[in-house]
Amino acid sequence: MLTVTVNASKKYDILIGGGLLSRSGEIVRYLYRCKTAVVVTDDNVARFHLSKVTQSFESAGYQVLTYVIPHGEASKSREQYFALLDFLAENRVTRTDLLVALGGGVVGDLTGFAAATYLRGIKFIQMPTTVLAAVDSSVGGKTGIDIPAGKNLVGAFYQPILVICDTLTLSTLPDSVYDDGCAEIIKYGCIADAELFEWLKKPIRPQIDRVIERCVSIKRDIVNQDELDMGIRATLNFGHTIGHAIEKASNFTITHGQAVATGMVMIANAMFRLGKASEATYEAIRDMVEAYRLPVKTSFTEEELYDTMTTDKKRSGDRLRFIIVKEIGSCEYLDVRVEDGGDGITLRKVLKEALK
Ligand code: GLY
Repeated sequence: MLTVTVNASKKYDILIGGGLLSRSGEIVRYLYRCKTAVVVTDDNVARFHLSKVTQSFESAGYQVLTYVIPHGEASKSREQYFALLDFLAENRVTRTDLLVALGGGVVGDLTGFAAATYLRGIKFIQMPTTVLAAVDSSVGGKTGIDIPAGKNLVGAFYQPILVICDTLTLSTLPDSVYDDGCAEIIKYGCIADAELFEWLKKPIRPQIDRVIERCVSIKRDIVNQDELDMGIRATLNFGHTIGHAIEKASNFTITHGQAVATGMVMIANAMFRLGKASEATYEAIRDMVEAYRLPVKTSFTEEELYDTMTTDKKRSGDRLRFIIVKEIGSCEYLDVRVEDGGDGITLRKVLKEALK
């Protein structure tokens, strides 16, 4: 088993290894004893993994309640959020009890937000079962739900007390879902770790434990410095400004991983064309994304993407901050003007170059 320790407003461990879910109750008991553990999961994950977790927690002496939501982004809604709070209240779950998020990003974000707000905060544990959740969303304490105006617009920074990443769960994922999560892994290599980027040239499934450890260590280092996303944490958004615009233009039929993969290639292309990064860096990112069967181009037009990009969360006044990779393994900021006209690089110019 590999362990990475996060030292943010709360200190907690991320445990990575095959078969951990079957031992999860025993592992948690050493850290936190309470009467009731509420395991929140979705219908897909429940079929494969729920009984392992409930049996393990029951054997460890917990009373276990289970709460199953439909799979998919639509469950990150205010309806599901309030239904979960009602369930907790109806079952007299107290402030000293525990929530367990067993699943991917949707389950983790919803459960984490419920944990952050129910009775003004109860403890929770993340048990990611997708690659995306393992390397990104289960770590760092971003929790939340979507509202009609946009994704993740309501939420809280609220850290779990433990993350248990059972890498055997990833073997039940279809290749397309697995590859989707690899977009975020490629991102970590691009922004922070040239050696990790090299590892990714070899088949990933046999080395997934060390790859996850490397990714969450990078995220840990960033979150330790900037838990509340006021500065360096923005580097985790490499490829995301264009990626979010693609996701939105597709009405979320294009997945987050696919969109971020395309966004990384497009911004690398734009930066090469604008003389801010080398062609070799652009080609390395493009080739890696292609190797993971992720899309390197979008069919959406400048008009379809531009408006969404102007409302990106990273906009500050008339400036939008892009993360740029000059060489694989390190990154910088590039602030561009959003309004057209005048000297210097504008958002429209970046997008035009990215689409070439
Ligand atoms: N997923 C980006 C972050 O946690 O900041």
